[in-house]
Order: sequence, then structure tokens, then C-alpha cells
Amino acid sequence: MVTKKPSIVIIGAGMAGLTAANKLYTATGFKDSFELCVVEGGTRIGGRINTSEFGGDRIEMGATWIHGIGGSPVHKIAQEIHALESDQPWECMDGVSEEPSQPTTIAEGGFQLNPSVVDPVTTLFKKLMAYAQGKLVGDSAAGCEEIDYHTKLAAKALKVSSTSNGGQEKLSVGSFLRQGLDAYWVSKKDQEELKGYGNWSRKLLQDGIFAMHENTQRTYTSAGDLLTLDYSAESEYRMFPGDEITIAKGYLSIIESLASVLPPGLVQLGRKVTRIEWQPEGDEVSGMENGSATATRPVKLHFCDGSNMLADHVIVTVSLGVLKAGIREDSGMFNPPLPSFKSEAISRLGYGVVNKLFLQVEGNDCNNFPYLQMVFHRPDSEFRHKKIPWWMRRTASLCPIYSNSSVLLSWFAGKEALELESLQDEEIINGVSTTISSFLPQPHKLVNSNSHELCNGTANKVGNSHGSEVKVTKILKSKWATDPLFLGSYSYVAFGSSGDDLDKMAEPLPKLSTCKSAGSPPLQILFAGEATHRTHYSTTHGAYFSGLREAIRLLQHYQCIGV
Ligand SMILES: Cc1cc2nc3c(=O)[nH]c(=O)nc-3n(C[C@H](O)[C@H](O)[C@H](O)COP(=O)(O)OP(=O)(O)OC[C@H]3O[C@@H](n4cnc5c(N)ncnc54)[C@H](O)[C@@H]3O)c2cc1C
Ligand SMILES: *[C@@H]1O[C@H](CO)[C@@H](O)[C@H](O)[C@H]1NC(C)=O
Ligand SMILES: *[C@@H]1O[C@H](CO)[C@@H](O)[C@H](O)[C@H]1NC(C)=O
Ligand SMILES: *[C@@H]1O[C@H](CO)[C@@H](O)[C@H](O)[C@H]1NC(C)=O
Ligand SMILES: *[C@@H]1O[C@H](CO)[C@@H](O)[C@H](O)[C@H]1NC(C)=O
Ligand SMILES: *[C@@H]1O[C@H](CO)[C@@H](O)[C@H](O)[C@H]1NC(C)=O
Repeated sequence: MVTKKPSIVIIGAGMAGLTAANKLYTATGFKDSFELCVVEGGTRIGGRINTSEFGGDRIEMGATWIHGIGGSPVHKIAQEIHALESDQPWECMDGVSEEPSQPTTIAEGGFQLNPSVVDPVTTLFKKLMAYAQGKLVGDSAAGCEEIDYHTKLAAKALKVSSTSNGGQEKLSVGSFLRQGLDAYWVSKKDQEELKGYGNWSRKLLQDGIFAMHENTQRTYTSAGDLLTLDYSAESEYRMFPGDEITIAKGYLSIIESLASVLPPGLVQLGRKVTRIEWQPEGDEVSGMENGSATATRPVKLHFCDGSNMLADHVIVTVSLGVLKAGIREDSGMFNPPLPSFKSEAISRLGYGVVNKLFLQVEGNDCNNFPYLQMVFHRPDSEFRHKKIPWWMRRTASLCPIYSNSSVLLSWFAGKEALELESLQDEEIINGVSTTISSFLPQPHKLVNSNSHELCNGTANKVGNSHGSEVKVTKILKSKWATDPLFLGSYSYVAFGSSGDDLDKMAEPLPKLSTCKSAGSPPLQILFAGEATHRTHYSTTHGAYFSGLREAIRLLQHYQCIGV
């Protein structure tokens, strides 16, 4: 009998695609019953995992952290393959958490801020975010008198921002945070006479610190503007307990481990899919003209080199950005176009730009660069240093990738991240150097500092030689938005969208329930990738879970053993 084995094609060799391939290939009894291949548009595997090297150090251009280790499949693999230790230095970011190298917070102009100024705002911000994420529930329900001060502020902020939103259910994280800050100021009214520092009033300073934390949140979520980040979805997002750690041998070691079980040739590089033809309706399957059994496979993939391939099942793992471009009318990536429930979810969900910038620095003190947190003046402030470019003004930090490294790292989000991709290296070097000299002024400038009040109270002009003679010699930046295989960095639940849309992203096609599809072959197009996971979207482990989910869906469909 010449019955063809069912064929499965996975589009994309990132975390989701390779997890699916790994699961399908290693499932008992599966190997001989199916044809399997992974087609990847790029020239490497890993997708948004892109371990690289800069200045002799191992760095990550994309995914960097294991977000919480308890229950993380990525952490489990990393442990199994001993990827968590290395003889060579890597981007371990030990300056973030390890004593005694606490972050050094400096305000534009070179005022080093005392923790007594920074900490209350940092605590406020953290508590507001914890509240939004549903981790800070007041005891009021239990009738307890003692409601935490910050919980009260947050509850008030939520009430005010909901009201100002016309009592609508929909609310953004950005407006909630701003209401929280306002409520904080109202509660602190009596202390407002507190002196400022230099051109910084105390209020401007604390607003600036708050904005710095917002900017960090922009890079965490990839929402370029927190006003576009949905408030209610925040509480659905799940984090694993335990530390946030980096992978000593590089994030790519996880990818390589997943791919290592696959036989050579199963993953095909340089195979960019340009069109996916499928059969949503149950009429005669086209392609019978050939008379061969393969022609009955319902899905036909077209590649950029003009070749094509037939398949029974396709697992699409391309990024949400690629899908957004793919549903535009002129694109025709899907033929016929995706049903509206799917394309509307794709449109509504958010997908932002986050980029990393690595800088090689030279100079006497470059091994001593602080973990610098930067508090900028508002972009329209008359006090701002005019030579600092606008695209630096929302960068929260600049710090060595490990405590002794001469490679510094900054994260960018939104418009600023996009701008970074188009700038020449020299423009970036100039912009960052100007910024560094405003925050870490040369010693001689300090000697001439005339405002001795600054050295007294809670703020100090930076008195050490951090940054003196620090010279940026070369840079490396990621370019996730302009790379046509990604078109951005990761997904978020945008204002106007919801967790339901993430579930819709995961639904296979054709939809089983419609009568039109009754006779058409099931599970033609399956969807995996970080943007298809309701509670772990935007992460590598979310991508992992999604790949596993779709592999299991197919294994169950064929009732394979060992699922
Ligand atoms: C700067 C940055 C920092 C990040 N930091 C973290 C972090 O610290 N922790 C964390 O957990 N996550 C982080 N992430 C997110 C994480 O990298 C992603 O969520 C995850 O890697 C996505 O995997 P995926 O398989 O869903 O998609 P991808 O990795 O995008 O895989 C999809 C693959 O499809 C390919 N492809 C696209 N179009 C086509 C086509 N037409 N034909 C064929 N192939 C195609 C792509 O080349 C790609 O290889 C970060 C991402 C970025 C960009
Ligand atoms: C038709 O069959 C030939 C080989 O017999 C094959 O090369 C070709 O790809 C098939 N075309 C389609 C559309 O299936
Ligand atoms: C800011 O402060 C400095 C020093 O106190 C002062 O010389 C300057 O005029 C102030 N204003 C601006 C816009 O910089
Ligand atoms: C830090 O760097 C200096 C000079 O490169 C070196 O002598 C020292 O051993 C390094 N320290 C650590 C902890 O790596
Ligand atoms: C600075 O501190 C000294 C000693 O504590 C004090 O005498 C002086 O008045 C202070 N100056 C200002 C401007 O607060
Ligand atoms: C991946 O890293 C390499 C450097 O190793 C770089 O050339 C490439 O641009 C990176 N990809 C993206 C999308 O940033």
C-alpha cells in the first residue's frame, strides 16, 4: 500500500519551533509514522535567542534572563546540560543584585542621589506594580484595620483612574501608575517645602525617579508607552518563583540542546515561507490534478526561492510582528486569509520594540563603572542638557555586564529603540558619551562646583572619579524591529485587547465548530510562539510551553503513545 505518512512542517527554528520538533521527534512510536521538518527563514537557529560575543565577552542580543527558576522548563534544561556554570565571564549582570554593588542613582547634571530620596519612590513604584499584578491584596476584606499605606494609595489610584476613564472596565497600566504617583504627592503635601537640589526641585527629582522605573517597565513589557498596556491583563501574567538568572554558557545552549536530538537535515535553514495556502472549507481538495497521494495534502507552502512544499499540518511559530505584517492586505501570507477571529486578535495584541546596546569602554577606571541608574529631566524641561539626544532620555540604566567588565549595557524600548536601529555607530557613541559626561562629570568640574548645599543633604555631586576619562570605543546593538524575520521584540496585552486574544492566537485552523469546515482536514495550521500563551507570553518559557502544546495536540490527534 502506498499510503503517504502524514507530514508536519514547523515554520521557525526558535524556542517554540524547536521544542515542538523535539517533542514530536522523541515521542515514542512517532519517528516512523510521520514526516517532520522545520523550515527556518534565517541562517541560524534560535530566533529571538541570539547569543553572541562582544569585546571578548559572551553576551545576549535577545533573550537574557530565566524569569524565575521554580518550575521553569528553561531552567531545568539549563541545569541538565550544566549551562549555568562557565569558566569564562558572561553577561551575568551581578551588579544588579549582589552586595555591595547596589545601583548608583544619579540625576542629570551629576547629582548622586541618596537612598533616602530614591527608595520611597522605588518602593511606591514596586508596590503599585505589585498591586496591578494582583500580588498586593489589602486586608480590608478580612476586616483588618491595618491596610498598608501603599495598598491604600494603589486602591485610590485604581478608583480615580477608572472613574476618569468614564467607569470603563478598560484601564491602562500607565494611567494607573500616574494616579498612584499623584496620590502619593497628595499624601506628602505637607512635606513639599523640602529643599531641592541644584535645578532639581524635590518633586521634579522624585517624578524623574518614577519615570526611570516606568522606563524599566517599558523594556520589561515592550510597551513603548505604558498608556497602551492593558491594566487588567497584568494580573493574568504569571512569574515563576525564585531568582531571575542568566545562562553562563549562553541562552543558545538551551536551543542547541533541544535541536541536538534531531537528525541532520530535519532543520532547513534559509527557507523563508512567503505564502501558506490552506483549505478552510470542506469541498474538494484542490491539487488532485497530479494524481499523486502527496497532492492531497491540504496545506501548500511557498518559499522565497519559488519552491513549494505540501503538508498535512503546519505549525506556525513566527513572531506576532511577522503575523501582523502577514495579515495586511498587500501581504497575502495566508491564502485564503485568516478568519476574522484570528486576524482581529493579531491586530489587537501589542508587539513592541526592545533593543540592547553594548558599549566597549576604555580608560583608567573602566573596570569600575557603576551600575548606573539615570534620572533625566523631562524632555521639555528648560534645565535639560541640550546635547543629550532624545533617544537617550528614556534609558533607565547603563551598567557593566558583570562587575569587572569593560562592556556596558543599556536597554531601549519603543521609539527610542527603533531610532537606535537606524543610527550610525558614531552618532550613538557621541550621544552616549555626552550622556555619560553629564551623569558622571570629570573631577575638575566637580572642584568648581559652587553649590555646597548639594554636598550636605540628600544629594551629592558625584565626588568620585567614576566615568572620568571613560571613552566609548565601539558598540554592538540588536536590531529586532528592522529584521524582517522578527519585526519587533515581544508581545504584550495592549489596551483594548485581553487575555482572550492570546487564547485565540493559539486556536488551530480550520476552526472545528464551523459547519463550513466540516469536511475539511483538521489541524491544518497550528499556532505556537510566545504570543500564543495566555499567562507566559513574551518569554522563552512561554514559547517553550506553546511548542509543547501544539506537538501534543498533534500526537493526541494521531493517538500516539508516549504523549
Ligand atoms: C531584546 C530581547 C530580550 C528578551 N529578553 C528575554 C528574557 O530576558 N527572558 C525571556 O524569557 N524572554 C526574553 N525575550 C523574549 C524571547 O526571546 C522570546 O519570547 C522567545 O525567544 C520567542 O520564541 P518563539 O519561538 O516564539 O519566536 P522566535 O524566536 O521569533 O522564532 C520564530 C522563528 O521563525 C523564523 N521566521 C520568521 N518568519 C519566517 C518565515 N516567513 N519563514 C520561515 N521562518 C520564519 C524566525 O527567523 C525565527 O527563527 C527577549 C526578546 C528580545 C527581542
Ligand atoms: C506533482 O508530482 C510531481 C512528481 O510526480 C512533483 O514533483 C510535484 O511537486 C507535484 N506537484 C504538486 C502540485 O503536488
Ligand atoms: C541650573 O543650575 C545651575 C547651577 O546652579 C545654574 O548655573 C543654571 O543657571 C541653572 N539653570 C539652568 C537652566 O541650567
Ligand atoms: C578585574 O579586572 C582586573 C584587571 O583587569 C583583574 O586584575 C582582576 O583580577 C579582575 N577581578 C575579577 C574579580 O575578575
Ligand atoms: C551644610 O552642613 C554644614 C554642617 O552640617 C552646615 O553648617 C551648613 O549650614 C550646611 N549648608 C547648607 C547649605 O545646608
Ligand atoms: C544576532 O547576533 C548577530 C551577532 O552575533 C548580529 O549580527 C545579528 O544582527 C543579531 N540579530 C539580531 C536580530 O539582532
